[in-house]
Amino acid sequence: VASDQIRVALFGLGGVGRAFLELVDERDLPIEIVGAADSTGAIARPVGPDDLLALKGSGPLPAEADPATVIRSSGPDVVVDVMACDFATGEPSLGTMLQALGAGAAVATANKSPLARYWSKLWETASAHGASIGYAGAAGAALPAVAVARSLARVDRVDSFEGILSGTTTFVLDEMGRGSSFVTAVDAARRAGIAEPDPRIDVGGWDTAAKMVIIANTLWNPPVSLDDVGVTGVDARTVVEAGAPVRMVGRAARKGRSVHLSVEPRRLDPDHPLGPLEGRSKGIVFEGRSVGRVVVSGGHSHPRGAAAAVIGDVLELAGWARG
Ligand SMILES: NC(=O)c1ccc[n+]([C@@H]2O[C@H](COP(=O)([O-])OP(=O)(O)OC[C@H]3O[C@@H](n4cnc5c(N)ncnc54)[C@H](OP(=O)(O)O)[C@@H]3O)[C@@H](O)[C@H]2O)c1
Repeated sequence: VASDQIRVALFGLGGVGRAFLELVDERDLPIEIVGAADSTGAIARPVGPDDLLALKGSGPLPAEADPATVIRSSGPDVVVDVMACDFATGEPSLGTMLQALGAGAAVATANKSPLARYWSKLWETASAHGASIGYAGAAGAALPAVAVARSLARVDRVDSFEGILSGTTTFVLDEMGRGSSFVTAVDAARRAGIAEPDPRIDVGGWDTAAKMVIIANTLWNPPVSLDDVGVTGVDARTVVEAGAPVRMVGRAARKGRSVHLSVEPRRLDPDHPLGPLEGRSKGIVFEGRSVGRVVVSGGHSHPRGAAAAVIGDVLELAGWARG
């Protein structure tokens, strides 16, 4: 194996993890998988992306290695965290990320909860060990919200931003706008395979709130956390009260060093820049002092788009430049 390969330990082999492997293979990227884990097994040896896909396709990963030792024994440059993650505790991602950073490995994660709840702890651990964290997959994924926020943070002073960041909630609100009850609309999102295991995280506004926190912390200092967001969820009366089309809108504004964050279902004005968003598309509008309004939209929710965002982070964390 060439030494210019980026050594990756892959935690999670669900929709996003498998799409990650497919993209590594299809794009012929300089990424070598040196370890992997799912919920029941783990391996700590180099394995080709297609071989790992075949291994996972035949059933749960074999318990060749103790999951707790995969990072230490495989010596990755980057640990990729695309595990299912408990929104309330951030686990098992939080523990895996802290272990990786503590070992000096970079982390690329698609999980928002650990960052929205433990931003300072994660970055303090990273900086103590000369490591870094890529999180484009956790806040927007296929929508390059984090990349644009990072760019704007260097280019300008951003005073506020507004986001429609949960494709699932847009789907539910549109179903309700077409006359479905709240319960029927949530069921339809489940059947379409786009609801989180606990749909209250999406329709309750928490998914949007976590992404707003992550983007706010990308732009501004000192960091905020999920507890700082005023969150109002969708309920059975939402569309009736606001009138369709309703969207779950996150708003963030900074005055001095204080940040105000809110998430609530709102009826958008006809000329709102995110008004045309439909289906599972997402969008974000930044207001910069010098650059003015910057709108990013598109990138609907899909495991392949999320995996592509994670790959972008892996390449950036490893300092990869297109040759
Ligand atoms: N799907 C998307 O479009 C998208 C977009 C952005 C972010 N995300 C986030 O990315 C994460 C992964 O999404 P997904 O759609 O790939 O989920 P998924 O299909 O449910 O897959 C989750 C994977 O995590 C593994 N896992 C669970 N607990 C584990 C543990 N303790 N140790 C190691 N592996 C463990 C599961 O193992 P088994 O295979 O053994 O069950 C499975 O392989 C989620 O938290 C999601 O919120 C997803």
